Amino acid sequence: MSQQEAVTPYGGSKDEKKKEVASMFNNIAGHYDFLNHFLSVGIDKLWRRKVVKIVKSYQPKQILDMATGTGDLAIALTKAQPQKIVGVDLSEGMLEVGEKKVKDLGLQDQISMELGDSENILFEDEKFDAITVAFGVRNYENLDQGLSEMYRVLKNDSPLVVLEFSKPRNPIFRKIYFFYFLNVLPFIGRLISKDSRAYSYLPESVKAFPDGAVFENKLKAVGFKSVKTRSLTFGIASIYEAVK
Ligand SMILES: C[S@@+](CC[C@H](N)C(=O)[O-])C[C@H]1O[C@@H](n2cnc3c(N)ncnc32)[C@H](O)[C@@H]1O
Repeated sequence: MSQQEAVTPYGGSKDEKKKEVASMFNNIAGHYDFLNHFLSVGIDKLWRRKVVKIVKSYQPKQILDMATGTGDLAIALTKAQPQKIVGVDLSEGMLEVGEKKVKDLGLQDQISMELGDSENILFEDEKFDAITVAFGVRNYENLDQGLSEMYRVLKNDSPLVVLEFSKPRNPIFRKIYFFYFLNVLPFIGRLISKDSRAYSYLPESVKAFPDGAVFENKLKAVGFKSVKTRSLTFGIASIYEAVK
């Protein structure tokens, strides 16, 4: 069992990770957007913009935004001018918030939001021209299965673009960052979201995630080529670009 699979939101077994992840995101859905932007001081928006720029360079028509949550990346992806964006997520609560945002912006013809599992994608092979995942892969119960499924539904020569937290390499910055991440952030998160575990699970799951070269090798192992990593903001997040 990998470290990533062993870290679960409420301390249940590896096989309960998916259920726990869905229920944790259902619990925090109402506060998710606020906390995201507040705790990251808005940097998350810049990171998503970089993802959009990469995706746009492939001029995709059909985009799948996996683990779409409240739809921030799906909405930002309209700037890539595709015909259609499908956002899929495990959590009904997150999707409800996302659907409202999409409707309020009048984007419901361009973006659809669907309940589903990244590890068992209910679309046919080679359907999409691009797939994105922002802050999702860290939560997968079975990461390799999730990556193979995304590979399956992607067309040849099309990109998977993953945005995920990573561990800063600089030892001094890493110390300061993990102090904030392990102490300050869970405290504020607990106070606002009222979920006692969600914002402790966040740094734990970041620590356990196989980032950098290990993640690149996982992408290559399921068949992706031209795998490239861009380090963002002193390495606290990374964008992985890979082509089928
Ligand atoms: C941290 S949120 C990120 C949401 C959004 N992509 C963003 O950038 O704000 C992670 C999302 O991944 C979803 N998720 C986790 N595992 C999943 C899976 N196996 N299939 C689909 N969604 C999943 C959760 O329900 C949650 O909404």
